[in-house]
Amino acid sequence: MSGYGPEFQELIKKVVATRPARVEASRRGESFPALTMKEREIWLGKYHPDYKSDGRRAVEVGPNKGDVFPEEVSVLLESKSMLTDVEVNLDNPDYETDVLVIGAGGAGTAAALAASDEGLNVLVSTKLRHGDSNTVMAEGGIQGADQEGDSPYYHYLDVIGGGHFTNKTALAGAMTNDAPLIIHWLEKMGMMFDKLPDGRMKVRHGGGTSRKRMHSAGDMTGAEIMRVVKDEARNRTKSINVLEFSPAVELLTNKEGAVTGAVLQNLETHEYYVVKAGSVVIATGGFGRLHIQGFPTTNHYGATADGIVMAYRAGVSLTDLDSTQYHPTGAIYPEQNVGLLITEKVRGLGAQLLNVDGEQFCFPLEPRDVESACIIRECLDLGKGFTTPTGRPGVWLDSPMIDMLHGEGTVRKELPAKYIQFKRYDIDISKEPMLIYPTLHYQNGGLAINEFGETGVEGLLSAGEVAGGVHGRNRLMGNSLLDVLVFGRRAGLKAAELSKKSKKGKDTTLTLKHIEDFEKELKKSGITDPMVGPVVLPDYTPDHVKSRRWTSL
Ligand code: FUM
Repeated sequence: MSGYGPEFQELIKKVVATRPARVEASRRGESFPALTMKEREIWLGKYHPDYKSDGRRAVEVGPNKGDVFPEEVSVLLESKSMLTDVEVNLDNPDYETDVLVIGAGGAGTAAALAASDEGLNVLVSTKLRHGDSNTVMAEGGIQGADQEGDSPYYHYLDVIGGGHFTNKTALAGAMTNDAPLIIHWLEKMGMMFDKLPDGRMKVRHGGGTSRKRMHSAGDMTGAEIMRVVKDEARNRTKSINVLEFSPAVELLTNKEGAVTGAVLQNLETHEYYVVKAGSVVIATGGFGRLHIQGFPTTNHYGATADGIVMAYRAGVSLTDLDSTQYHPTGAIYPEQNVGLLITEKVRGLGAQLLNVDGEQFCFPLEPRDVESACIIRECLDLGKGFTTPTGRPGVWLDSPMIDMLHGEGTVRKELPAKYIQFKRYDIDISKEPMLIYPTLHYQNGGLAINEFGETGVEGLLSAGEVAGGVHGRNRLMGNSLLDVLVFGRRAGLKAAELSKKSKKGKDTTLTLKHIEDFEKELKKSGITDPMVGPVVLPDYTPDHVKSRRWTSL
């Protein structure tokens, strides 16, 4: 029995009807033509959600005052601290550490390892458990130009081309330069990459790549990366201490505004803990759980932009935070899978996007923003999409082509997690296509940093999705797993250097003066009833349930 009901079966017949000719054409190396640069520009402008003017407004306070962001972001940047009316004793810190790392995904863990390599003590605070992050959920791969015929130079050109030349070039250069080192650092720690029978790395194309340089571990590449970096960190019990369920809720500064620590909150007891640190690395991930423009998301439950909120109040500038990545292929059916990522590797293996008539309508490996624009156009403008029983628009992703192109069993071998995710609902993706539509996947912009992870506010560094600039306004597949590790390590090394220096005379007093100043600015701008931020966890409680009160049973 198939998880697709009778209303789908008739339409699937159209996909099946066009499949043999499409597979034959693929075998001959023929593909749907890619868009020209001019067409890309037009389609992005017309169809990509980032280019719509509604749902956006200027932020009224802080370093980026006057810049336009999605409403969900602006309102959070104008939030007030949860410590506003709370007494926190800053005179007797609960913890003192050389380096405080806020966030324990890929970037935070890499930063902790790098600072520990320098002989320093590191305290890692994390909202949920160590490793709960977008890193652990990443599927398709990590880029690195370590194969013959490739080089960081080509990788760099792809990165800035994919970002439409809006990237900070020093950051893109740093990332692509360090990539081969990162791949082999992971391998040294025991990462099990996909390999060929002769032991060489198995590499593939991703959208917008000129060379095959996507390294993978099935479709669970992020989980495998997190396994090795987390194991390494947890083995270093003498130098790395991890506090779980203890998100940072505010930074602490000295009177001059340099960052000297943070306040954490224990999620269970709600107690606040004060941490004094020689330097602080923010690695809290992105903003997917803000559901910009109402989109579902591939993101981790904790992706609520906490680091952005805290650092902005401390004076860190933002770059490109108005730019959001919608991954072209998010699941729209079955309803239980809505928003979940269907890795780009599916298209890398040859699966094609088809409209309701079973026809191809775009080159399957355009840069992500362009691919998403093509799908939205097909559904909303041309009316050639599908509508699920709950009213979601979408198109087909013809995954059965993969076994036809590469041999029976390829889907199960190369995409084991995806296979299981759909099989739970009686859909066999090696035999039946998937229904997809763009889903909110990545925060392209973020805190402005230099190539060492420095934010411009003394004592504060940043790495990973919370930081912006490296990818410009569009990231290519496989460069976020790379970004978190490259800049995690770079920020950890710089944090260690700054912490050592801070021992030689930095004013290490702990104050909340920057919060007082920020709240004065809020009042001056007429924002009298701001929300409280960071939000820490998303709230999915429906209003009719929220209005209920607990009564004794
Ligand atoms: O499609 C994917 O597997 C996603 C990878 C990424 O965002 O880098």
